[in-house]
Amino acid sequence: MTSHIDFNDRMLSLGLARVAEQAAIASADWIGRGNEKAADQAAVNAMRDQLNKLDIQGTVVIGEGERDEAPMLFIGEEVGNGTGPAVDIALDPLEGTTLTAKDMPNALTVIAMGPRGSMLHAPDVYMDKLAIGPGYKPGVVTLDMSPMDRVNALASAKGCSTDDITVCILERPRHEDMIAEVRRTGAAIRLITDGDVAGVMHCAEPDLTGIDMYMGSGGAPEGVLAAAALKCMGGQIFGRLLFRNDDEKGRAAKAGITNLDRVYTRDDLVTDHVIFAATGVTNGSLVAGIKREVGYLTTETILMRSKTGSVRRMTYRNPTR
Ligand code: FBP
Repeated sequence: MTSHIDFNDRMLSLGLARVAEQAAIASADWIGRGNEKAADQAAVNAMRDQLNKLDIQGTVVIGEGERDEAPMLFIGEEVGNGTGPAVDIALDPLEGTTLTAKDMPNALTVIAMGPRGSMLHAPDVYMDKLAIGPGYKPGVVTLDMSPMDRVNALASAKGCSTDDITVCILERPRHEDMIAEVRRTGAAIRLITDGDVAGVMHCAEPDLTGIDMYMGSGGAPEGVLAAAALKCMGGQIFGRLLFRNDDEKGRAAKAGITNLDRVYTRDDLVTDHVIFAATGVTNGSLVAGIKREVGYLTTETILMRSKTGSVRRMTYRNPTR
């Protein structure tokens, strides 16, 4: 499947927002119902339906999993109506399935799109991640620094005390040492139970969110989505794939990755201009969650283009009829 039609990011961006909005609306009935699977499935179905209405020849490069484990939106699935440009799509129909099931903050529907070959085909393994917002010199913090050195370096670049830095970290037993080390610097930690795409995005708007830096391991596919967001919003992200066994290394080989120790920068993870949309499912500090009123559902979507660095927040009132 090839196409010589240009990737018209400006025209496609509104279509992308609709995809994220409809996935969120579909998951609305499952907020707080304790059923992660049903919430995710509703979002997947809606995202796929909407994607297939777009004038694109799309390939899912970050999706719900390998073809044999995910019947819909699997890696390699072709989406779109086949008439437009050849594009790659990274998506997470419901980033924070547990957050949704428990009605906890910051669950999002997330999708990014760029020209063919614009995003790393990250295997479904963990990734060690480090992110900061815009305005800092490249490499002011690195993955090779200890957590303490990262906090010290960021505080000195920001011109503040380490006590004034807030780091976002996924609350997991594997992060206990990191959390203890960050605490020893005096920095505050916002622990999140899930949703590290949102966690990374928080760094790009520190005045709004209060977060300066994100660190820790989470899904590699989510790392690519977070890089796409920061490519639009500004900021740095570094990622290194983590492998627990040979099966996971095999997944990397299948994705064409040979250097297993490589540290990817934001622009290695996302190599060309992309568009990005995320709609709030539950309330969060980036966008509001779905609001129900009699006869209506209202959503808020953050819609961004890396080419221009434009960031729109759009509310959409959808009659429930
Ligand atoms: P899902 O919504 O797909 O369940 O993912 C949530 C998430 O918290 C991601 O944001 C994160 O990258 C990953 O899970 C962390 O994995 P784990 O729960 O294994 O630590």
